[in-house]
Amino acid sequence: MRTVTESTDTPMAAPSRHFRPMLVGLGAWTNHLHFAYDAVAVLRPQMLVELGTDRGESYFCFCQSVVENRTGTRCFAVDNWRGDLHVGGYDEATYREVAAHNEKHYHDFSTLVRSDFADAVARFADNSIDLLHLDGLHTETAVRQDLERWLPKLKAGGILLMHDVTVRNRGFGVWKVWEELCARGRSFTFHVGPGLGLWEKPPRRPQPPLIESFLSAPNESSAQFLSEYHACTAELHQRIAQSWNDGTIRDTYFAQQTTVQVFFSKDGVHSEEDSVLARIGHDEWKELALPLPPGGYGAVRIDFVSAFTTIEIAAIRLRKPNGATLFEAESAEAFNQIRVAGDATRLPHARSLRIQVTGLDPQLYLPHLARTGDVPEPVTVELKLRVSASERSG
Ligand SMILES: C[S@@+](CC[C@H](N)C(=O)[O-])C[C@H]1O[C@@H](n2cnc3c(N)ncnc32)[C@H](O)[C@@H]1O
Repeated sequence: MRTVTESTDTPMAAPSRHFRPMLVGLGAWTNHLHFAYDAVAVLRPQMLVELGTDRGESYFCFCQSVVENRTGTRCFAVDNWRGDLHVGGYDEATYREVAAHNEKHYHDFSTLVRSDFADAVARFADNSIDLLHLDGLHTETAVRQDLERWLPKLKAGGILLMHDVTVRNRGFGVWKVWEELCARGRSFTFHVGPGLGLWEKPPRRPQPPLIESFLSAPNESSAQFLSEYHACTAELHQRIAQSWNDGTIRDTYFAQQTTVQVFFSKDGVHSEEDSVLARIGHDEWKELALPLPPGGYGAVRIDFVSAFTTIEIAAIRLRKPNGATLFEAESAEAFNQIRVAGDATRLPHARSLRIQVTGLDPQLYLPHLARTGDVPEPVTVELKLRVSASERSG
C-alpha cells in the first residue's frame, strides 16, 4: 500500500472537505461517506474489495475518491445482487442500475463480481487486498464466516472496514464479532448511525496521519476529524431532506426503485424491528411474497419509499402456509377497507387501489385482523403492484 504522509494531511485538511457525493440517501451509509472517501484518498490502496454493495452507496463513494484523488486503485464489488434477510430481497433493477452507473463512471478500474462471497474468494490471492470493506448479511454467523474466508486475503497492515458494528437489534450480530476483532489489532469505532469499524490487520505499521489519528485515538486530531465529519454529514442529511421537499429526489439514481416495507404487530404499535422489506424496479407489474415470522398480526401496515410515484395495487393477500387467506383485497370494495395515510393520496380507480405518493412516508393500514390475531404459523404477505413515475405538475 502506498501512503501519503505530507504535512497537508492535518485535521484541517481532510481530503473530503470538498467532497460532494454523487450518490446519497440510498441506504445506511450517509454518516460514513466522508471518512470512506478520506480512507481511500490517504491510504491510496492498490486493491480495494467490498463485500456487500447493493445500490452502491459505499462502493461508489470509494470509486469517486479513486477518481478525484487519482489513487490508481483497482476496485472490486462483490455481491450476488439478490438481497438478504436484513436488506430484503430486490429485483434485477438494482443490478441493472449499479452496472450502468459503474460502466458510465468507473469501468476502467472497477469490476462488479456478481457472486456469493464464498465463491468469489478464490479469485483473490492471499495477502493481496489493501482495503477490505465488509457489509454483507449482518447475522453473527454470516459475519464470522465472511471474516474467516476473507481476512487471509487482506495484507498484513491492511485496513478492514466493517459496517453496522453498533447495531444491537433486528438480529444483527456484527457487534459481537467486532468486539472480538478489536482485541486482535488496532481499531477505531465510529459510533454515529449504525456504526463503522476501522481495523488494522496486525502487525501494526505506520499508517497515514489521518488513519493513525483514529487508530491511536482519542487525541486532538481524531476529535477534529470527527467534528468535521459530523458537520459534513449534517449537511448531507439536509441535502437529502431538501431533495424530498423540492421534489428533485425524482431526478436521482435513488428514484428508479421503490422499497416496500410491511410492518406487523399485535397492537398497532409498529417498529422497524417488526418489519420486512423488499425493493422493486418501476413500470412493470411485480408480484411480491413477503414471509412474516410466526406470531400474532392484528395490525399490518404497508409503507413505501418511493419518489413521488403513482402506485397501483391489483391485489393484497395475507396467506397462511396451507393457502388459506387471512385477508384478501382484489376489488374496489375490498380496497376501500384499507386506510391510506401519511404522504399518500388515494386516486380513483374502478378495480385496483391506486395512490399518489406525496412525500417520504406513505402508508396503507390493512383492516384489523381481529379473529386471526394469534396465528402461530408464518403468514405471507402477497402483493401485486406496479409503480410508475408521476406526471409533474407545473
Ligand atoms: C447491507 S447491504 C450492502 C449495503 C451497501 N454497502 C451500501 O452502501 O448500501 C448487503 C448486501 O450484501 C449482499 N449479500 C449478503 N450476503 C451475501 C453473500 N453471502 N454473497 C453475496 N452477496 C451477499 C446482499 O445482496 C446485499 O446487497
